[in-house]
Parts: sequence; C-alpha cells; structure tokens
Amino acid sequence: MVEEIQIGNQLNSEPVLSAENINFSYDNGYKVFENINIEAGKGKVIAIIGPSGIGKSTLLRILGGFLKPDSGDVKLMGRKLNMPIPEVALIHQSIVTFPWMTAEDNVKLAMKTKRMTGDQIEEKAKESLARVGLDGFEELYPKEMSGGMRQRVAIARAFAADPYVFLMDEPFAHLDELTAEGLRQDIYNILFSGETPLKSVILVSHNLTEVLELSDEIYILNGIPASVVGKVNVTMKRPRNPRNDEFNANLDMLYNYLTPPRKREEVKKK
Ligand SMILES: Nc1ncnc2c1ncn2[C@@H]1O[C@H](COP(=O)(O)OP(=O)(O)OP(=O)(O)O)[C@@H](O)[C@H]1O
Ligand SMILES: [Mg+2]
Repeated sequence: MVEEIQIGNQLNSEPVLSAENINFSYDNGYKVFENINIEAGKGKVIAIIGPSGIGKSTLLRILGGFLKPDSGDVKLMGRKLNMPIPEVALIHQSIVTFPWMTAEDNVKLAMKTKRMTGDQIEEKAKESLARVGLDGFEELYPKEMSGGMRQRVAIARAFAADPYVFLMDEPFAHLDELTAEGLRQDIYNILFSGETPLKSVILVSHNLTEVLELSDEIYILNGIPASVVGKVNVTMKRPRNPRNDEFNANLDMLYNYLTPPRKREEVKKK
C-alpha cells in the first residue's frame, strides 16, 4: 500500500525533497558518504556533479528510497521517505526496460499502483510516449528499439507516474544531441507549466554544459568518503545560451571544481 502524501497546505519555503546528514556505507564496508545535505526546492532543477565513482548514483538511490542510509533522513515535503514511492521517480543511468514488454506496457508499469481505470492508463501511457517523441512506436519491443529510444521509454515511464520529483541519472547520455536538447526543454517546461504535479528535478550529469543550461543549483561532491564540497547557485537568465561569454566563464569555473577523487589506497594509509 502506497502512502498518500498531502501537499495542499505545505509552506512554499519547505524543500520538496531533502537529504539531511546522510551517512552511507555499502555492505562491503566501503564508506561512500559522510554528512551529505541536499535540498531541492519547489520549481528548481538541482544538479549533482562530481568525478566518476564518487557516489552520485548511490545518492540518487538513497534520495529515491531504494537504499537506506546508515544515518540521516530523506524527506519528501517534510515527511520521512523510507521506501520507493511513485511520487519520486528515478530514471536510472543504465536503461531499464523490460524486454518482454512493448514500449506501451513498459510505460503502463508506472501506473500499476495508481487508482486508474484501464482506459485512463492507456491514454496516459500513449500521452507520455508521445511526449518523448515515440508516438506510433507503442507496440515495439525493446530489442526492436535503439538505445536512445529505450532511454526515451524509460523517461516516458517516469513521466507517466506523475511524480513530484524526478531523479535523473545521466538521462540524456544515450541520446543524440538534438533529441537530448528537445527533452531537456520539455522537462524544464513541464516543471514550470503547472499542469503536472512535478515540482523539482534532481539531475546527475557529466555533461557540464547540460548542467549549466538546466540547473538552478549545483551540488559538487568530492572526497572519499564523499561530501558536498561546493554549491553553486546559477542565476543566469533563461533561456541560457551555451555560446555566450558568461556561460563559458561559468563553465570554466565548474570544470575547475571537478578535480579527481583521491585513490582508495591513499585514504586507507591515513
Ligand atoms: N553495490 C555496491 N557495493 C559496493 N560498492 C559499490 C556498490 N555500488 C557502487 N559501489 C561503489 O560506490 C562508489 C560510488 O558508486 P556510484 O555508482 O554511486 O558512483 P557515480 O558517482 O555514480 O559514478 P559514475 O559517474 O561513474 O556513474 C564507487 O566507488 C563504487 O565502486
Ligand atoms: Mg553513476
């Protein structure tokens, strides 16, 4: 049974999703995080960046309720999140589609726990597929699709759940630049359209141009165990143009933050 969450009388200042003092180690004892604090506000796109292997995907899994921190809390609109719920949708880094299901059935999965009729589910699945440019491809199986199409099915599935928060792990990495750009704009427009419950997006990406184009706030993870070593508020006006000087100056600054992590051996020696 999925818990219903009331949002009607929430104060605007309260973050949509927050992580408070998160510590986390994997079962093999590897400590990934020390005291992570992150807040995703209403109408905001939050980016999480950091070197490969630092813990970005792990953090998204914690934020989505898929992994339990050793200590600290994840809260959705002030209420503790202890398990995955449809209101917080995670789009994985590796594309997850079920090979024995058509595109449409893959998307319908997102609505399994909702109180919707078969017709409503079908309509919503078709609408979500159309939104990512897969109108007319509903009956294809994943093996008949390109990597980018499978990625779009995964994004459509996340849309279909009408989440409050999108957790996106390298969501556009498998797409050509034009499709990626279209989807970035879509997600941004949906976030501010007021037509869906979506309130906040947390994006993990190695593509710093994408990060700078989309985000309001950027959290920088580094260190072993990782912590938030920097936070950047991006105040550039939208739409942002990656070709102008201000954009490029900000891009240079971000690159400078991304120094490689220390090796595990160096950490162990201490
Ligand atoms: N199931 C697991 N058990 C033990 N260690 C793990 C597990 N999954 C990941 N790790 C380790 O946790 C660390 C963080 O991994 P994670 O996948 O979160 O990194 P990432 O920042 O997303 O990297 P990338 O940018 O390459 O996707 C890595 O050192 C990885 O080896
Ligand atoms: Mg990752």
